[in-house]
Amino acid sequence: MMSMSTMAELAWRFAAAHVLLLPAAVGGVAYLLLRALRASQLRQEGNSPPPGGIGGWCRGAVGAETLSFLADNSSGRGFYHFVHARALRHGACFRTVLFGRTHVFLLSSRARAAAASLLAADPPHLAKRYVRTVADLLGEHSLLCTSHGAHRRMRRAVAGLFAAAPTAAFAAAFDRLITARLLADGCTGRAVVLDAALDVTFRAICEMLIGPQEDAHKLGQLQSDVMDVTQAMLALPIRLPGTRFYRGLQARKRIMDALRQEICMRRENGLKLDRRDDFLQTLLLKSHMDSPEEALTDEQILDNILTLIIAGQVTTATAITWMVKYLGDNTDLQEKLRSIQLDLASKHHDAPLTLQHLNTMDYAYKTVKESLRMATIVSWFPRVALKDCQVAGFHIKKDWIINVDARSIHYDPAVYDNPTLFDPSRFNDDMKPYSFLVFGAGSRTCLGMNLAKIMMLIFLHRLITNFRWEMADHDTSLEKWAMFPRLKNGCPIRLTPIRKDKMH
Ligand code: HEM
Repeated sequence: MMSMSTMAELAWRFAAAHVLLLPAAVGGVAYLLLRALRASQLRQEGNSPPPGGIGGWCRGAVGAETLSFLADNSSGRGFYHFVHARALRHGACFRTVLFGRTHVFLLSSRARAAAASLLAADPPHLAKRYVRTVADLLGEHSLLCTSHGAHRRMRRAVAGLFAAAPTAAFAAAFDRLITARLLADGCTGRAVVLDAALDVTFRAICEMLIGPQEDAHKLGQLQSDVMDVTQAMLALPIRLPGTRFYRGLQARKRIMDALRQEICMRRENGLKLDRRDDFLQTLLLKSHMDSPEEALTDEQILDNILTLIIAGQVTTATAITWMVKYLGDNTDLQEKLRSIQLDLASKHHDAPLTLQHLNTMDYAYKTVKESLRMATIVSWFPRVALKDCQVAGFHIKKDWIINVDARSIHYDPAVYDNPTLFDPSRFNDDMKPYSFLVFGAGSRTCLGMNLAKIMMLIFLHRLITNFRWEMADHDTSLEKWAMFPRLKNGCPIRLTPIRKDKMH
């Protein structure tokens, strides 16, 4: 039992502690209140920066935030986990420091508002800028990296390449390539969707850009170099032999050399005599005939040929892979779509697919859109502030990078009912403005979005009318260091042919 003196001593200590701690506690609370009041005042005046963990050793090229981003990127959770965790902590607008640069992320309703005011309106004080590694790998003239005046000029120069006639030719080429590929995979009864999709998208895009390539070895080298460049895009910019970034730079050099040789060969043969009608030929002829101010230089042409391959191949192949996975997980929807597509195939009399055929594929198109929403291949769109400004009621300093987060919009329950459910029929309804940011918005909207939809539709039609499939591996972990979130296992599927006699 406690003695009276111990009790008295405890009571005295308790009282003394209160006498001493009370003023400190009151002071502490008052300080916090004043800070909150000041922060709210600053916010009202638009002078406060977005909240976020950027103090101390979070800063710097390899600060704590960068290490955390890299750790998520090299784990099966993928880099988006980094954004998600900070949004839970700080809210829909937060600030962080990555690779020594301050980044601000805008999510959900704030992202939709920013999509209108920053992406679509394209104000002059914001410019698109990817991390330095991307510009080093794609080249300073790349459409993805130039801004404002230079960008407008470059976009005008290549936009004609996406006109109706080349698009129709592209659809026919892609249909031919995917049919051949599915025949080969169908024979084995198994396919790794990502491998097949990377292969056909690469071949189709190269054919469109630089014409059919007869030399299989050269094409294989180009494909592996393009992969090295893509894989270096999010790497630490260390230019030492053995690093991923260095491998990417070496691969870029080989690609540029091969394309320069191709240009030389075409010029030697006489540009006007050459009957080729690929993108490269069109650009070379155009720059041959344009005035010197309008003509594109070889370096501009080369950077943008590489940009189009990289921007088009991995994005589309990744989207196709997710689409096949979503339908593999939802076999009832797979069956429903199959019966619609088989019906259409019989009306087309199994002819090669044309753009007119694709226009009749309403439910398949909604399936493509739903896959793109759920996969959100490009998670956010970065823009750099060229001067101090206000965004979403916060003060943004010059050189900070503002990232409009598309994934948070696509998974916002206020925008999409039950957003984690794969449901193509949700696209029967009208959509809220800036709720579908798969291809961006404004002057930087994806140039190849029609080609991407065409590839996804043709792939889907050919696969679903010829095979039933189920997942051969249910592991959903994501590939480490991938530029876009994609399955580590590449999505292996088991194929069962629907008809033994011929392909649809
Ligand atoms: C499913 C496939 C694709 C997706 C999800 C996709 C997504 C995007 C997004 C979101 C942007 C805008 C980024 C921003 O505003 O910061 C973009 C830009 C771009 N995309 Fe795509 N893309 C796809 C396929 C393609 C294809 C097939 C091509 C061409 C062969 C292509 C060429 C481009 C180009 C050149 C730009 C830069 C446009 C500019 O800055 O003016 N994309 N893409």
